[in-house]
Amino acid sequence: MHSPVGIFDSGLGGLSVFRLLPDMLPAERFVYVADSGRAPYGPRPQAEIVAFSEQIVEYLVEVEQCKAIVIACNTATAAAAKVLRKRYPTIPIVGMEPAVKPAAQATVTGKVGVMATAGTFGSEKYAELMSQYGRDVEVVEDPCVGLVTLIEEGELKSPRLSAKLNTIVPPMIEAGVDTIVLGCTHFPLVGEAIAEIAGVNVKLIDPAPSVARQLVRVLQEHSLLAETSDTLLTNRMHTVLTSGDKDRLRRVLAATLDPTTNARLRIVKHDFMTR
Ligand code: DGL
Repeated sequence: MHSPVGIFDSGLGGLSVFRLLPDMLPAERFVYVADSGRAPYGPRPQAEIVAFSEQIVEYLVEVEQCKAIVIACNTATAAAAKVLRKRYPTIPIVGMEPAVKPAAQATVTGKVGVMATAGTFGSEKYAELMSQYGRDVEVVEDPCVGLVTLIEEGELKSPRLSAKLNTIVPPMIEAGVDTIVLGCTHFPLVGEAIAEIAGVNVKLIDPAPSVARQLVRVLQEHSLLAETSDTLLTNRMHTVLTSGDKDRLRRVLAATLDPTTNARLRIVKHDFMTR
């Protein structure tokens, strides 16, 4: 059997990237790790996020034999991408960062909102990003305290979710923001609810499609693309592991994956031991 592509996030957020992949790369097999049992990562110290990310990638590489890794998490990328690339120099690792660059290009008012986690805002990587692309625009940041937890609880459309978003989005709009960066992979999962509050004149930037395209490019460059054949297509089965609740994962998957996708999923409970 050909090697899969590994994807991970602190929890369910990376599904905003994963949901695009089976149709874009129909011959590939994917193993997704949702570390929901330890989410959110955002408020944790960077060293702990690095340790958790290393445990997950070790599992994906050594047990699942993954040929490439997608860090479908801004917080884990900011904390751990460098360490992971150093530890696995032969395995391509695709990371992600808040889309400040496209937002700075898109804004007309010159004011951009960034919704991300405290971990991302506190990282060196974000500081670099801001000094490169955030200089000519005004950036309104919100660490969205509690929002990831609500999404992990499966609240993708609910009064509790709306109440939380109403503390985050309107202040950005009042500050004159016309572009909002969804700088945490959990947030596109509630993109509709955010758009409803933000209104039609505000552009939301979800980096998931560009991360998915980057994975395709990287697999091509490293000659790692699986061969397309009908046998593979019909036998293809993806694995989704969670360190949290399987039923919650199932519910969010059902609400998130395109119902027309023919991806077959195996859902597995897996605990990562804290060292
Ligand atoms: N989904 C993650 C991100 O993209 C982090 C959420 C969290 O665990 O705090 O930043």
